[in-house]
Amino acid sequence: LDNGVARTPPMGWNSWNTFGCNINESLIRGMADAMVSSGMRDAGYQYVVVDDCWMNPNRDSAGNLQGDPTRFPSGMKALGDYIHARGLKFGIYQAPLDKTCAQYFNSYPGATGAQGHEAQDARQFVAWGVDFLKYDWCSPAGSINDQVATFAKMRDALAATGRPIVYSINPNSIHAKTGPQRNWGDVANMWRTTEDISAAWDTGQTNGYPMGVKNIVDVTVPLAGYARPGSFNDPDMMEVGRSGLNETEQRSHFALWAIMASPLIAGNDVRSQSTTTRDILTNPRLIAINQDTLGLQGTQVSYDGTRRVLAKRLANGDVAVALFNQGGSTTTISTTAAAIGKSGSSFTLLDAWTGATSSSTGGISASVPAHGTAVFRVSGGGVNPTPTGTTLVSAASGR
Ligand code: DGJ
Repeated sequence: LDNGVARTPPMGWNSWNTFGCNINESLIRGMADAMVSSGMRDAGYQYVVVDDCWMNPNRDSAGNLQGDPTRFPSGMKALGDYIHARGLKFGIYQAPLDKTCAQYFNSYPGATGAQGHEAQDARQFVAWGVDFLKYDWCSPAGSINDQVATFAKMRDALAATGRPIVYSINPNSIHAKTGPQRNWGDVANMWRTTEDISAAWDTGQTNGYPMGVKNIVDVTVPLAGYARPGSFNDPDMMEVGRSGLNETEQRSHFALWAIMASPLIAGNDVRSQSTTTRDILTNPRLIAINQDTLGLQGTQVSYDGTRRVLAKRLANGDVAVALFNQGGSTTTISTTAAAIGKSGSSFTLLDAWTGATSSSTGGISASVPAHGTAVFRVSGGGVNPTPTGTTLVSAASGR
């Protein structure tokens, strides 16, 4: 979406993965503080996003949304001010129909969705200083055309306010499995490609809840052609730093989100994260690959069912390559500079994990542990516009 924001994938933190409905203002403030003290903000994480369950279940007498008076007694404007004062940006959640997902599915009370209040809610968010809206489809009903029209309504309401706001949509919530095949770049800055992520490697799902990291990669890789500045596939918030994935899997998760030009939205408790978690989430070389200004999503170079190679062209002519081992034992994964779109015979390979460099005449190879991902930034030579040996996955057709 060309609304001036999200020219590179948005980076931030969201409350849902760890806290669900169990949120309040002191938690969010503490997280904003921790984003600063941990170095996450300075590494590029900007948006502090309050997910579902922040609302008072009733609108006020003028129909305005209000924060839950017990959980957010100081009000949402004060929370936005607190976040802004720390050099961060404020994100909030709403749903397009009558209820939020928690109201629809869980015991969370109320029916405060935006339906019929789109312009009013957009203006309210602006009054609170909101910089990012997550808009979450919470109904099994609705054709793809209904979804497009409904999501576009809030796109237009946000645009009418004049404030730059990242528009993040989830057309894929709740079994309306019409989302992933559509290129939503005409409607939103980022759109979910799958059902909810869980802190699991492989749940066997490709189109249902819960999704594992490997399953989400399977679904999102073919959608690479949709990504461009302002418009990114969203394979969901990260599970790095939460239990359920081993360290190798967490590293793969981060590396793959980085090379897929995915929004990097942390979902862990930043206040208590380990040094290992912080070092994964703030790896400057992987963040630079993710935040590259070309805004391209890495495309698939080769895949034999176990060894998957993804390559992402970068603005300065370098190409980033991920060697992803989906198998259960260590294996060597190899590709070539020509296959990833480089020309020439003399290259430098920067290992994105360690920062070590090596030289190559064209071979790119690593021994990769089970579920691991090696990442190199390949520089030198030229860029081959029609790389040999590359089977670029074309964009799935829009609807
Ligand atoms: C479904 C979304 O996929 C989640 O990320 C979260 O926003 C919940 N809804 C909130 O109810």
